[in-house]
Amino acid sequence: MTAFRPSPFRPTMPLRISSQPQTIFKTPATRPKEKHASGWSSLWDTNKSHFWDRGRPSPALQDLLNLHPELFSEIAHGPGRQPKAFVPGCGRGYDVVMLALHGYDTYGLDVSEKAVETAREYAANELRDPSAYNFKDASTLTCSPERATCGTANFLVGNFFEREWESLLATKDGHKFDLIYDYTFLCALSSDMRRDWALRMSELLAPNGILVCLEFPLYKDPRLPRPPWGLKDVHWNLLAEGGNGLIDPSTGTPEGTTSKEGRFERKVYLKPERTFEIGQGMDMLSVWKLGHEAS
Ligand SMILES: C[S@@+](CC[C@H](N)C(=O)[O-])C[C@H]1O[C@@H](n2cnc3c(N)ncnc32)[C@H](O)[C@@H]1O
Repeated sequence: MTAFRPSPFRPTMPLRISSQPQTIFKTPATRPKEKHASGWSSLWDTNKSHFWDRGRPSPALQDLLNLHPELFSEIAHGPGRQPKAFVPGCGRGYDVVMLALHGYDTYGLDVSEKAVETAREYAANELRDPSAYNFKDASTLTCSPERATCGTANFLVGNFFEREWESLLATKDGHKFDLIYDYTFLCALSSDMRRDWALRMSELLAPNGILVCLEFPLYKDPRLPRPPWGLKDVHWNLLAEGGNGLIDPSTGTPEGTTSKEGRFERKVYLKPERTFEIGQGMDMLSVWKLGHEAS
């Protein structure tokens, strides 16, 4: 089988997009979706997670939680109910643990058994003795003061595009999430999976919930091959316009629709002051809520 290899996602290694032999890349047209999942599992099984592993939770999400509490105030919580968060393609689970430490019952999903095993181990240690990098204020090495208690960090093996894993959710109130966070998940998917990504997000988000996307990479031409796939204008196309996220080869931008027929409304669009080095100055944070039904 031809190897499935992303370009490095890490700041310490420059992107080598054009220097890698094209023969190791299978285009979306020749890589069925089920092979995509096994490609990621095989990267985990052969210890290739250093390609994307940043070694800590996302500073941009952390700042959003701490500096913009108003965005999260509508998220349902009440006696006996922690708000529920979801991180698809969670990898080692850094953001899952950070959200749990900020009071969310958080579910990380990954298609790789090895990723989930690694994440469970990481979470067990980190929740017992949290690192300072989980908190904006390093003197607060405990659960976020805004929430009375920590949430839980839960990990599931499953394919985001399938539904089996939803029955494993230990929830009293359905399979919807109050907060969904995407970082380096959409950019890990080939372009023919993008429309389904948007559809699944709309199915999994609670009516008052928020979808937070740290848009990366925005510096890479979306026509260039291999993950991380360039995502310039792709979130807007998928979520606001209801487009398919496919890239027009002549312009390098998403195939156009100028309509706003997507299921989501963008509430916030900002350049985070802090993000990982590789995206510093270019990453954007977008916050979305469900709007009207797609026509
Ligand atoms: C680029 S990595 C990012 C991991 C993590 N978000 C991080 O920042 O470290 C993409 C992750 O998505 C997982 N993945 C890919 N396709 C998936 C799918 N269809 N369902 C669930 N997880 C998937 C991969 O196994 C991998 O761990």
